[in-house]
Amino acid sequence: MTWSGVIREYRAHLPLSADVEPVTLFEGNTPLVEAPRLATALGVTGRVLLKYEGANPTGSFKDRGMTVAISVAAAAEARAVICASTGNTSASAAAYAARAGLRAFVVVPEGKIALGKLNQAAMHGATVVAIDGSFDAALEIVTGIAKTSNVIVVNSINPYRLQGQKTAAFEICDALGCAPDYHFLPVGNAGNITACWMGYREYRERGITDSRPQMMGFQAAGAAPLVTGNPLHNPETVATAIRIGNPASWKGAEAARDESNGVIDAVTDDEILEAYHLIASLEGIFVEPASATSVAGLKKMSLEGRIPQDMTIVCTLTGHGLKDPTTATESSPPPARAPADLERVRDILAI
Ligand code: F0G
Repeated sequence: MTWSGVIREYRAHLPLSADVEPVTLFEGNTPLVEAPRLATALGVTGRVLLKYEGANPTGSFKDRGMTVAISVAAAAEARAVICASTGNTSASAAAYAARAGLRAFVVVPEGKIALGKLNQAAMHGATVVAIDGSFDAALEIVTGIAKTSNVIVVNSINPYRLQGQKTAAFEICDALGCAPDYHFLPVGNAGNITACWMGYREYRERGITDSRPQMMGFQAAGAAPLVTGNPLHNPETVATAIRIGNPASWKGAEAARDESNGVIDAVTDDEILEAYHLIASLEGIFVEPASATSVAGLKKMSLEGRIPQDMTIVCTLTGHGLKDPTTATESSPPPARAPADLERVRDILAI
């Protein structure tokens, strides 16, 4: 059967009235990739599976929530949507708004958005404002504007976003035939860990699965308010997608951790970049730096001896590596240069 997008596939699990017509780019159904070489490199004896959300239409997991939020906005005959973003939400909002014929307004932190994401928003016709401030300041501005203007906020404070994003947990359980033992994921604004936990809970409550994973959320060390317990004014990390100092779903993330007997911890930028290269070079999957935070977290736990043997472990890879060509260029060797001469090229290749 052809995949028809997360709303049509999971409508029975979504709180949508019958008049909501899906606005879809056929998001979801992303690969769950067995990663044995990575598992060995991380010292993990069980199964490591990578849920590659970069394979969504705009290149990140945001499309799952955006199809639902934009479909509801369109059904309500909204004219415009607005969001703050570290890049992926704005790319997704712009694309789905274009598809629905809605205007999109986007507020982002200046100079802190990966190049590809900024281009996506512009290409889909969004009006983009770059502010001299953080994502958190952008989100405050956006919610303030929405109070007095006729625009719908499509950040994850819009509950339909999390409803859509929970489908990643459904897909993982459907593919495995059960829930995994552990689910590692990056945490920024904390919507995704909240949404995935909701998905696992619902499948368990409906008897579709008979267990739930431990939720393992990882932040970047320079942007880890959930680890320190305090909001942060100047978050800083190479993983710009999760450069957030005051997560909107703070309580949801803590509940996911506590109810699942899980963990919320941090990894350094060096650990994130190491995982970023490992995933690409060992498994052929190119992710953006923030996405590698889940794998960096698994490595940290594994080195600390905190992962029991023979577990089934899922790591979400949230976004595509092509979105951030700058970090890839800066952290990889440049190509060797040679004249157009067979012998000289052969010498360089040493084969
Ligand atoms: N990974 C990527 C690639 C992201 O873009 C984000 C969030 C996260 C992880 C963290 O997810 O916020 O649900 O905890 N990006 C948002 C944005 C903030 O504006 O694109 P979260």
